[in-house]
Amino acid sequence: MSALERHSLRLQLRVIFRLAEREDLPKLEWYGKYTHFRRLFERTYQEQLRGERLMLLADVNNFPIGQIFIQLGSADELWLPKHAYLYSLRVMDAFQRQGIGSALLREAEALLRERNYSSVSIAAAKENVAARRLYERHGFQVVAEDAGRWSYVDHEGITHYVNEPCWILEKSLR
Ligand SMILES: CC(C)(COP(=O)(O)OP(=O)(O)OC[C@H]1O[C@@H](n2cnc3c(N)ncnc32)[C@H](O)[C@@H]1OP(=O)(O)O)[C@@H](O)C(=O)NCCC(=O)NCCS
Repeated sequence: MSALERHSLRLQLRVIFRLAEREDLPKLEWYGKYTHFRRLFERTYQEQLRGERLMLLADVNNFPIGQIFIQLGSADELWLPKHAYLYSLRVMDAFQRQGIGSALLREAEALLRERNYSSVSIAAAKENVAARRLYERHGFQVVAEDAGRWSYVDHEGITHYVNEPCWILEKSLR
């Protein structure tokens, strides 16, 4: 054992996967890193209450260290297949590369299967090679590309335009 190893402590953390509650919203800002998404988090939460989206969190000690949001598409007719869209997958830096991102993908898929969704898609920024690799390992396949243009209004009311070309990947849940 080296001198440095004598000063280490091995932790076992319990990660709970659950839907967001109102008191999680400020915590999703991750102490300033995502303050600019305050309105987006609030709107997504309202959409979750209306049954249009889900905010799935990876919770450690009542703090969301990871998240994935789900846009629930609805079929025009009951018997038509339903398709959902996953987005905003992120895990706090210190908790990455330990399987939490993969677990969030698996939990999101399980939630969709329970709701009888037949397929799901996700976007990976073209420059985010690691994200595309992760999704492909989970059975997603590239089906299209997209200009990735979207906008959001930050916590001060300023509109930001994002331009992030991406791959669209899809997976069957059947
Ligand atoms: C993409 C992201 C969500 C992945 O989260 P994560 O928790 O690190 O994901 P995982 O741990 O499940 O997998 C990541 C890698 O760690 C590896 N890994 C998983 N468990 C591991 C472990 N116990 N020990 C070592 N490596 C491990 C996986 O094999 C994977 O390897 P890869 O890079 O070759 O694909 C995370 O990197 C992130 O938040 N990035 C910034 C935001 C982002 O880019 N989001 C995607 C938007 S398109």
